[in-house]
Amino acid sequence: MRSCDYAQDDRFLHRHSAHSEVSSLRHSARSEAQSQNLIRNVRIAGSVSTLFLLLVLLTGNAALGASPRTNYLLYCSGCHLPSGIGNPPNVPTLHDELGRMLVVEEMRPYLVQVPGSSQTPLTDADLAAVVNWMLYEFNAGTLPKDFEPLTVEEVTEARKTILADPLKYRIQYWKDYDFD
Ligand code: HEC
Repeated sequence: MRSCDYAQDDRFLHRHSAHSEVSSLRHSARSEAQSQNLIRNVRIAGSVSTLFLLLVLLTGNAALGASPRTNYLLYCSGCHLPSGIGNPPNVPTLHDELGRMLVVEEMRPYLVQVPGSSQTPLTDADLAAVVNWMLYEFNAGTLPKDFEPLTVEEVTEARKTILADPLKYRIQYWKDYDFD
């Protein structure tokens, strides 16, 4: 009876150690696979970020979206000049007057309804950024104290209306140009 107990114990021990051997083998196989996966993921992440870096370098930042200043130079400066002074009386200046006209509520949408703004290939978000940039860059001294930057929603809404006669609208709600 006793020897039988031993035999059973022995079998039990044998089985138990065999089991733990298998499980430790399985365990190390799993961690091997896990570290292979990790290495593969790190490699993929590495090549993705290298690719991204290359893309940024090749496209000169276009992948990240052009800055408002760059968009101004690309889409507005052809007529208003890089300095924003325009060529009066044919093309108005963008300095100081825009800040002054913003005391009148109706002149806010006007900024994006003039043909040069509304018909630009820029998206509403990029146009909002360009106009806000222009206001801070060329009109900092004349902006109303409570001025809030144009929102994208506001630009989207304003852009739906095309001004048939921008000068008439300007005179109606604010005033005519006063070129010296
Ligand atoms: C093809 C030439 C041209 C381009 C390009 C152009 N504009 Fe103009 N812009 C004008 C002219 C001309 C006026 C005078 C109003 C009119 O007749 O359209 C004007 C008027 C304006 C006014 C109103 C100024 C005022 O005192 O009433 C704003 C604001 C303006 N443009 C912004 C822009 C912005 C922003 C861009 C670029 C996204 C741009 N323009 C591109 C020619 C241009």
